[in-house]
Amino acid sequence: MKRAWWKESVVYQIYPRSFCDSDGDGIGDLNGIRSKIPYLAKLGINVIWLSPIYRSPNDDNGYDISGYYAIMDEFGTMEDFDALLAEAHQAGIRIVMDLVVNHTSDEHPWFVESRSSAENDKRDYYIWRPAKDGGPPTNWGSSFSGSAWEWDEKTGMYYLHFFSKKQPDLNWSNPKVRDEVFDMMTWWCEKGIDGFRMDVISMISKPPEPWEDSPTEGGLYGSPWITCNGPHVHEYLQEMNRRVLSKYDLMTVGETAGVTLEEAKKYANSDGSELDMVFQFEHVGLDGGLSDKWVRRKMDLRELKENLTKWQVGLEGVAWNSLFFCNHDQPRIVSRLGDDSPASAKCIATMLHMMQGTPYVYQGEELGMTNCPFGPIENYRDIESINAYRELTEAGLREKDELLDCIAYKSRDNARTPMQWTGGKNAGFTAGTPWIMVNPNYQTINAKAELQDQDSVFYHYQKLISLRRRSPWSDIIVYGHYRLLAPEDPNVYSYIRESDTGKLLIVCNLSPESVSFRIPEDVQWSEAVPIVGSASLDRILKLQPWQAEVWSLV
Ligand code: GLC
Repeated sequence: MKRAWWKESVVYQIYPRSFCDSDGDGIGDLNGIRSKIPYLAKLGINVIWLSPIYRSPNDDNGYDISGYYAIMDEFGTMEDFDALLAEAHQAGIRIVMDLVVNHTSDEHPWFVESRSSAENDKRDYYIWRPAKDGGPPTNWGSSFSGSAWEWDEKTGMYYLHFFSKKQPDLNWSNPKVRDEVFDMMTWWCEKGIDGFRMDVISMISKPPEPWEDSPTEGGLYGSPWITCNGPHVHEYLQEMNRRVLSKYDLMTVGETAGVTLEEAKKYANSDGSELDMVFQFEHVGLDGGLSDKWVRRKMDLRELKENLTKWQVGLEGVAWNSLFFCNHDQPRIVSRLGDDSPASAKCIATMLHMMQGTPYVYQGEELGMTNCPFGPIENYRDIESINAYRELTEAGLREKDELLDCIAYKSRDNARTPMQWTGGKNAGFTAGTPWIMVNPNYQTINAKAELQDQDSVFYHYQKLISLRRRSPWSDIIVYGHYRLLAPEDPNVYSYIRESDTGKLLIVCNLSPESVSFRIPEDVQWSEAVPIVGSASLDRILKLQPWQAEVWSLV
């Protein structure tokens, strides 16, 4: 298998708005991030993925960009960014930028021009269509509720927006749009950034025309996912690769909603023609999927094992996996698969971090930060949650209390509460009033307390990261072959990692019960050295709730 620095890295995602506020306006900022570089270095990560920091009216917290060459006012200045980049590099940490180019903000100058007249030379930068039967051209829904088409009075046409109406979709079939995007990417690369995380990149190539309605699946509108993996997406990414990516030493990861294993082999092919890796979402859909987000279902461990194993085995040698449970769109895994306890946070981390792929840690995950008890809908800030609540209750499709219960479990805001730095005011995030409520559990879950406790979730993550990055087992953890054990066991996730240099056995009791687990007979050892946990290895193990062990086998 080809070696690469991004295969040997551990990435830490920062959602700047909620990370650290240096100037007391209640919103995190770049100088706040700079002040935490020593913390990140201590954790041991070597790549930061920064959620968008570009100029934005913040309809979707920066995923609606009105200036790709400028920094969001609340976050600071370009000088602050340059300083952040330099200081991170000095600490041995690379910076990967979010690239949001499926859409722009409606306040981006391109769109302002585009909507100004049907003859404007930027008209075709976006997707405009006439009405059909007095209504929108198709039944497609936006992922943030409502139609994906917005009527524009001025020119009497609809424009397409698969997210909010303030996020019009760019028209990638227009070569001028691709030129603009590639020029902008080049500008950031010349600045010395280290890669891109590409927002909903699987949606850039729209379905072939004539366009048809998509299935409504019990909702009011057809699914927006109709546009995933469109006919030209690989062509566009190969062009991007030729014109930009291949000229620099970058790490690239595509956020690919709706990606299948077969599609992932194209996006992240190890021939290097497109991207380095993708985020797939099947495993985080197991407690309620993409098309039916507002449901609460318990994740079944057997299904999770089957799914992650499919990806581990399916991509080995042909593409590369990203390993994640948490990001700014996902409720906290410790509240989904775990029971909010530090023990469950550590167990889930061990299970994921010993796999093949590049791990991503989302801010606060390394502290065991949990979902937040927001209470009434007024306490939510996320456009997706707020719109869904309004639309589904107003249409009489859902009962308020029952829907609020699902939103409490699934809302993206669960990931967006301020980073819990201390047990002091506002969890040490800001001296002002935070833009979103602080999780009330900050007095027990916070970085300051965890840094003083060798047994904390923080130090567990630090250990997992150092095992992967610099230990006698790094080679096995990064490149080794994966083999699942005991697929039918409902509580224990166990697997083997093996390379020429050795063999690891991973056993994680992902349940709040004590269980016994029998190591399958085909796993043999003469000596077993614990490298995570400290239990001795027997054929039959008695495992405590959330106990996780990793042994090096000889
Ligand atoms: C991606 C982002 C999400 C955003 C959406 C639209 O899914 O991760 O936060 O709302 O794209 O840009």
